[in-house]
Amino acid sequence: MTYEKALPSRRAPSPRRIARYFGASRRLKLLCAFAVVAYVLLSTSIKLWGTYWSNAPTDLSPLYSPTTSPSLPLPEHPARRLIRTSNAVNIGDRYSYLKPLSAGCEGNTAIYRDEETGSDVVIKSFRTQLRNRLPEYARRTFAGSIDYWPAEIPATLLLGGMMNVTSESNTTETVDVSFKSDFVPAVDYFLIVSSESGAPVSPTWRLVTPFIRGGTLQTLASKLKEDRPQKPHELDAFLRPAFNRLLAALRELHAKELCHDDIKIDNIFALDQTRWLIGDLGRAREVQHPYHYTHGWQSKNQWSECRLNDVRRMLKTYLTVLRTAAADADRFDAEFYTERQPWSKLYWDFMRRPALAGELLGRSSNSSVELAQGPAMEASAAFKPDMSVQTGRAREALRLAVDRELKCTRIPWRLRRWWLWGGFMPKYRLERNLHVAKAEFET
Ligand SMILES: Nc1ncnc2c1ncn2[C@@H]1O[C@H](COP(=O)(O)OP(=O)(O)O)[C@@H](O)[C@H]1O
Ligand SMILES: [Mg+2]
Repeated sequence: MTYEKALPSRRAPSPRRIARYFGASRRLKLLCAFAVVAYVLLSTSIKLWGTYWSNAPTDLSPLYSPTTSPSLPLPEHPARRLIRTSNAVNIGDRYSYLKPLSAGCEGNTAIYRDEETGSDVVIKSFRTQLRNRLPEYARRTFAGSIDYWPAEIPATLLLGGMMNVTSESNTTETVDVSFKSDFVPAVDYFLIVSSESGAPVSPTWRLVTPFIRGGTLQTLASKLKEDRPQKPHELDAFLRPAFNRLLAALRELHAKELCHDDIKIDNIFALDQTRWLIGDLGRAREVQHPYHYTHGWQSKNQWSECRLNDVRRMLKTYLTVLRTAAADADRFDAEFYTERQPWSKLYWDFMRRPALAGELLGRSSNSSVELAQGPAMEASAAFKPDMSVQTGRAREALRLAVDRELKCTRIPWRLRRWWLWGGFMPKYRLERNLHVAKAEFET
C-alpha cells in the first residue's frame, strides 16, 4: 500500500452533497442573516451619508456684496480669555456672567452684562458645527490660530449685521430702532484662547447677540394667553402683520439662495408683541445644498425644496403661536381641520398648493378682508352632537393629530399615539373625531 493511498480521500463535495447540506431551513436562516447584515450596513451607511452632508459647509457667497471686499465686520478683540471671579467666570474685562439660558451638545448659551455698553447680551459658545472655512482675510485677524468657524457667525453678520447695543436698547419696552433687519444681529464675536487659570486652550468660538427680553415666540404665546385669553381669529387679526413681515424676511433670505433650515417657535424672537426677528442661523444652507437631498433630511419630516420647507415651518410656527395663546386650544383644533377660519384656510391651501414666501405673503395679505370679519365665520349649525362617542377621547385624538400636523421637526413614533391618531385609517378616524369635537362647539 502506498503512502498516498493511506490518506483519507479528499474529494471535492459533490453538488448533490452541497444541496443536501443547504436544505430548506438552512437556506432560510442564511437568507435571514444576510438580510439583517445588509439592512444594518445599508441603514448605517445612509445615516453616515446624511451626517456627512449635514456637516458640509454652507455657501454664503451670494450674501457677500460684490462691491465691498472684505464685507464681514471684524471684531475689535479677536481673542479673549476667561476670568474667574468669586462667583462666576467672566469673559475678558468686557462680559460679566449673569445666568445660563440653555445648554446643548453643540454649545451653551448664557446671559452676560456688557460692561462697555451697560446692556445685557447673550453669548453662545460653539463646541461643534465648525462647518465653514474662515475667509483668508479673517484668518489673519485670528492670527491663523483656527481654520474653521460655525456658519452661524458669518450668516448672522451678513443677515442681521453688527450692531452697537446701548443700555437703553434693551431696558426700554419699545422696539429699538437699531434692529434694522428682521434677523437677530451680532454684537461681537471672538475666540476664547485661554482658560480661567490663564493656560492656553484650543480656541473656541463665541457669538454675542443682544439679549431680547421678549424671549422667543413660545414665551410670547404663553404671555398672551396669561394676559388676556382670546379666540384664535382675534389673535390672528392682531398678529398676522407680524407673520407677514416674517414671510417678507424669508422671501429676502430665499432670494439670496439661502434657506434657514431650522425655523421653529424657539428660533424666532419677539422684540415686542408684533415685531419678531428670525434667529439661530446655525443650520442655514444654500438652496442646492446636498444635505437637502439625503434620506437623513427627508426622514426628519422635511421637504427637499428647502424654501417651501422654510415657508411650511413658518406657517406651522405661526399656527402654534395662535394655538398656544388661544383661550381654548380644543376649539383651535376643531377649527383647524374645519378650514373655516382665515388662518386654517391659509394653512390647508398652502398644503394643497405649496407656495414660495412671496406668493404666500400675497395670499396672506389678501385674507385681511376675511380677517376683519372673523367672528361672523363662527356660526354654523351643520353638525349635530353625537353623544355615543366619548368626547374626551375624540378631543385627545384631535389634539394629537394637530400636534403631529404642526410639528416642525421629526415626528416621534409612539404606538399609543399612532393608534389614537387613527392607526391604519387616520383619515376616517380624524373625520369621526372632528365630527364629535365640532359638535361640541356648535351646540
Ligand atoms: N438673543 C437672545 N435673546 C434672548 N434669548 C435668547 C437669545 N439667544 C438665545 N436665546 C435663548 O436661548 C435658546 C437657545 O438659543 P439658540 O440661539 O436658539 O441656540 P441653539 O442652537 O442651542 O438652539 C433660545 O431658544 C432662547 O430661549
Ligand atoms: Mg435654537
